[in-house]
Amino acid sequence: MQNIAILCSGGDVSGMNAALKRFVEYSIAKGLTPYFVNNGFEGLIDNNIYRANYSDVAGIISRGGTKIKTSRSTRFMEQGYRKQALDNLKEHHIAYVVVLGGDGSFKGMQKLSDEGTEVCFSGIPSTIDNDIAGTEYCLGVDTALNVIKYAIDSIRDTASSFKRAFVIEAMGRECGYLALVSALTSGAEMCLIPEIPHDLNRYKDNFQKQIKEGREYFIAVVSEALKNTEEVAQWFEDEIGIESRIMVLGHIQRGGNPTVYDRLMAFHFVTYAIDGLLEGKKSSVVCYSGCGFHHKNIEDVAFKKYHINDNLLKLGSEYGK
Ligand code: F6P
Repeated sequence: MQNIAILCSGGDVSGMNAALKRFVEYSIAKGLTPYFVNNGFEGLIDNNIYRANYSDVAGIISRGGTKIKTSRSTRFMEQGYRKQALDNLKEHHIAYVVVLGGDGSFKGMQKLSDEGTEVCFSGIPSTIDNDIAGTEYCLGVDTALNVIKYAIDSIRDTASSFKRAFVIEAMGRECGYLALVSALTSGAEMCLIPEIPHDLNRYKDNFQKQIKEGREYFIAVVSEALKNTEEVAQWFEDEIGIESRIMVLGHIQRGGNPTVYDRLMAFHFVTYAIDGLLEGKKSSVVCYSGCGFHHKNIEDVAFKKYHINDNLLKLGSEYGK
């Protein structure tokens, strides 16, 4: 029997637990012995590795976060600690490792793969930011979007009860995907993301006209990447003459009951990851694009820049016109 391990690295996402469940069940079905690594790459260094079984994944599919914890490991940047991690994998006779994470995690995975040729790695894009090149979808994005949708729908209730502008800051690190899709699907009046240049003055005449015509509140969604949430709120007060409030959505975007889509995507991603490893793929990432799942080289994923789909950008560029 061959041993296979899974770990989560970087920001957690809803859907990781569904992935863990599929990992244990599908590994066993394929004649592999599943192992969990607690705490991401930190746990790999600290030998926090243990055999997993059906009972470990019972009842976790509906929970956000990750049962096996995650970390952003700085120690892993050092070759000495990576050697320790590889020695630990060898001690447990682990031949395959599945890594749930973002591009930083895949870069780490690449280094391990280069240094420890006897272990094969497969990455599963997992970040609410949806900012990984080569894949149209990252695990956890749908749940995050639904959490944001719920929050903005609720904010609209109170915004419309007063006469106020709400400036809502969405996560996404350097990427505006979450903010853009949330603004569009929540009917926001303003959307500011780094991928689309903006000029607040271009909103001004239109907003003032709308107020004259009876509009009483505004919803603006801004990407955290722009770091201008307070400035935008002040702009509403000074230039549009409407009281404003700021809502930084923060880490609630990373939690919550995983949507059906994320649970299903978790199952597909893990299935492809394990199948790829068993077919002899040494170090690759499972990517999703319109026509299905594909294994891609880490260089084509972790070392390239993600671009938001042109159709979405086109919709987004209609803001402020
Ligand atoms: O990458 C996921 C993410 O939630 C980003 O959207 C955000 O900028 C960052 O992680 C927050 O990191 P932390 O959880 O370390 O505060």
